[in-house]
This record gives sequence, structure tokens and C-alpha cells, in this order.
Amino acid sequence: MTLIVAGVDGSVSALAAVEYAAADAARRNAALRIVHVRERWTGLMPTRLTEIEHSYGQEVLVTAERLARAREPGIETATDSATGDVVTWLKEEADKADAIVIGSRGMGGFAGLLLGSVGQGLAGHVPGPVVVVREPALVTYGRILVGYDGTEEADVALDFAFAEAGRRGAGLKVVFSWQPPPFSSVGTMYDNLIHTVYEERTTYVEERFTAQRERWPEVPADYAHVYGHPVNLLCGESATADLAVVGSRGLNPFGALALGSVGHGLLHHARCPVAVVTAA
Ligand SMILES: Nc1ncnc2c1ncn2[C@@H]1O[C@H](COP(=O)(O)OP(=O)(O)OP(=O)(O)O)[C@@H](O)[C@H]1O
Ligand SMILES: [Mg+2]
Repeated sequence: MTLIVAGVDGSVSALAAVEYAAADAARRNAALRIVHVRERWTGLMPTRLTEIEHSYGQEVLVTAERLARAREPGIETATDSATGDVVTWLKEEADKADAIVIGSRGMGGFAGLLLGSVGQGLAGHVPGPVVVVREPALVTYGRILVGYDGTEEADVALDFAFAEAGRRGAGLKVVFSWQPPPFSSVGTMYDNLIHTVYEERTTYVEERFTAQRERWPEVPADYAHVYGHPVNLLCGESATADLAVVGSRGLNPFGALALGSVGHGLLHHARCPVAVVTAA
């Protein structure tokens, strides 16, 4: 059975993640597993504190499950708690799940922090999609946004975005953005050449998109190549999207999964939930 995992820590952001995960589970006919990890820490009177910590954790799970059931009464839900390092545990959970959903922020961090350590530790570091939610969705736009640059990894992100749009009856907005190389300011005599490279690249990406697109004929999709930085463009577009999808960088030369600058930028600045998809 398809499984969606949501990580909770008692924060508002985590509850927004639970709402997202419940809706996702309902759309996919999946089960929802809500997980709370108790971080080890030492302090005075460990026994009394352990009790309090335990009941806090239970309360966090009960509240989250209640919310999920209220939102989607039809889904199967379960809760689980563990003790240890949050990212390590959630990575294990993610390995067994079809997607993991977390909040952008949690109970810790400092005012002004845009993405907590859990999002940083998971996005691009697990094989399945990681969805990071900032706040509950109050409006539905019927639009999924995806950054596409014609790479193999972007194909995986595009595929996920098409599947999401299909499940939601939404349309897809596909954006390829391009900016001139840094040397173009000193090499103006090469303007024509740079332009030719640009034309070649955009033609290639659009053709590749068109080929992929044929596999999802029922999903309305709008493709645009735009001049500018992908993070600025995608973040701007994200204000009217239900989800933004990007590929992580995939396997880096050292064999570790990692996150590229577009995923990194979106996770910090997007105005809708962000799914980071890895071509593992
Ligand atoms: N103990 C936990 N158990 C399960 N999920 C957690 C736990 N802590 C955080 N999460 C998940 O990760 C999301 C982001 O929290 P995170 O801890 O990364 O941010 P933070 O608390 O603001 O900053 P910090 O990185 O300093 O802890 C939460 O909304 C929640 O979904
Ligand atoms: Mg935290």
C-alpha cells in the first residue's frame, strides 16, 4: 500500500504538513503515518523530565492524528514515536514511504530562520519526494509549478509534477529559465554567439519537454522559457501555485545525495509547499 509519512513536533508548521499529508494520502488512496521523534537531551531531574517529554510527545501525536482524521475521515492513519536524532529517524521513515511531508519550521530554531534542520537534512538526501510545507493552504489555485531544465533529473521532477496535477485535476506550469553567463558583460562582441547557444538550449529543453508531455495527454500543461534566475522566477510563480516541484541535484560526484541551489532557494523562499524530487 502507498504510504505517506508526516513528521510532527507540535509546531504550527508541522500541523500544516499533516493537513497536506492527509490530503495527499486521500488523493493517492494511501495510508498516513504520523511520526514524532523525541530528541535526546540532558538536563536536571531526567526522570521527571522524561515523563513530561513522553506525555508531550503523545499529545503532539494525538493532536496531529485528530487533525488528519478531521480533514480526511476516509484515510487510514497510524502514529509512531521514537527517541534519537530527528533527521536520522525521519530518513529511515522516508526510505519506507512513498513521500515524506514536514514543516519548513518547527519548535526550535531562531526567529527569521526560513528552513529548519529537518528540511535541510532530508531534501535531496532521501530517495523519495520530500515535501516541505510552510503554512496551511487557504486557497486552491489548481496549478502545479515545476522547474524544468531538460536534465534527467528534471524529467523525474516533471513526471512527479504531472502525476500530482493529474491526481488533483490541476494544470501544470512548466518553467525553464536561463540567464546569460557571467562573462557576457565583458564579452559583448560575442552577443550573437551567446544568443545562438541560448536558442539551441531552449529549443532542446522545449523539445524534450514536448516528448515527455505526450505521456500525460489529459493534464493541461503550459510551458514557458524565461530570461532570469530560476529561483526568482519560480518563487514569484509560487504565489499562485498549490505546489512547486524541483529536482534535487541527485547523486553528487562523491556519491551522496545533495540539494542544488534551485531546490535550496525554493525551500527558503517559495510561497507554497515545495516538493524536492530525487532521481535515485
Ligand atoms: N522531533 C521531531 N519529530 C518529528 N518531526 C519533526 C521533529 N522536529 C521537527 N520535525 C519536522 O520538521 C519540521 C521542521 O522542523 P525543524 O526542527 O527543522 O525546524 P526548527 O525547529 O524551526 O529549527 P531547528 O532546526 O533549530 O530545530 C517540523 O515542522 C516537523 O514537520
Ligand atoms: Mg526543531
